[in-house]
Amino acid sequence: MGTSSITAQLTESELKLLQALVYQECGMHFDERRTHFLQDRLQRRLKECQLDSFYSYYRLLISKEGKRELARLLENLTVNETSFFRNKAQLELFHKHILEVLIHRKQQQRDYSLRIWSAGCSTGQEAYTLAMLVIDALSYYYLRNPLPVDLPLPKPLVPPPWRVEVLASDISYSVLRAGQEGTYGENQMSMVDYGYRLRYFDKVAERYAIKKPLKEMVHFDFHNLKTEYLPQRNDVIFCRNVMMYFDEPEQKRLIEKFYRCLNAGGYLFVGHAESLLGLTKKFQMVHKDSGTAYQRLEVRE
Ligand SMILES: C[S@@+](CC[C@H](N)C(=O)[O-])C[C@H]1O[C@@H](n2cnc3c(N)ncnc32)[C@H](O)[C@@H]1O
Repeated sequence: MGTSSITAQLTESELKLLQALVYQECGMHFDERRTHFLQDRLQRRLKECQLDSFYSYYRLLISKEGKRELARLLENLTVNETSFFRNKAQLELFHKHILEVLIHRKQQQRDYSLRIWSAGCSTGQEAYTLAMLVIDALSYYYLRNPLPVDLPLPKPLVPPPWRVEVLASDISYSVLRAGQEGTYGENQMSMVDYGYRLRYFDKVAERYAIKKPLKEMVHFDFHNLKTEYLPQRNDVIFCRNVMMYFDEPEQKRLIEKFYRCLNAGGYLFVGHAESLLGLTKKFQMVHKDSGTAYQRLEVRE
């Protein structure tokens, strides 16, 4: 290890090596527009590790002892911007149309389970938003189609025999920890209206803490979307604002994996600036009032 305070120069070939390694490990592709960001983060990690060349940093990353540092580097390269109730039009489509269809279909099949996956969940706001919307959709469904039995008091968030699981996954351990903790500052609450604040949050000091029953519906776990083994049997997958950091071949591979991770007739949501257009023929677009989703088509493989 060196102790030099001189800023090491990143050569073209070192940059290529590191770019390829990051791509291979997590699918993130740094094109010319984003190389500056990559260089900046690499400089910081090099300093932190007290190494004096990027080649030695690369050697560390590919070594057995470097696994931790590799995870740290990937964390430093992710963009974690998110919010509650992000992209209202899409959420309306999910809440008012897709959940209605799913609940009705499942009820007829006497399958009372719903599994929603927020893939690339960042600090958890997307997953908690989805859980709140599922609760609302189930309550509204049973308001119009009452159950033949009285529910125990206090009424559970999810009416039995339904089981709702929201899986929230990410490649960054620090955002997963924040999601699991489930407390948010006022500046993160701007999209949460009065009604939702009252029902699902406690005010703890200056922060808003997700109430226990909602928290228990959301399960946080580490999953790298680059790997083959991803959570199966989902009814809906939200993977928003993640694919935009991947190149086209990697996007195609990910969509193919999501296809296999969805139940028949399941739905995939991608970000506002993302699309499945030209990347697959295995999904059909569902569009309503400026919200877009993609439904899995049953094709012979
Ligand atoms: C911009 S945030 C999007 C958060 C949320 N989905 C939303 O739209 O508000 C992107 C998230 O994707 C995660 N991510 C990036 N590459 C990933 C990968 N290969 N596997 C899993 N998560 C990844 C990042 O750590 C980050 O938290």
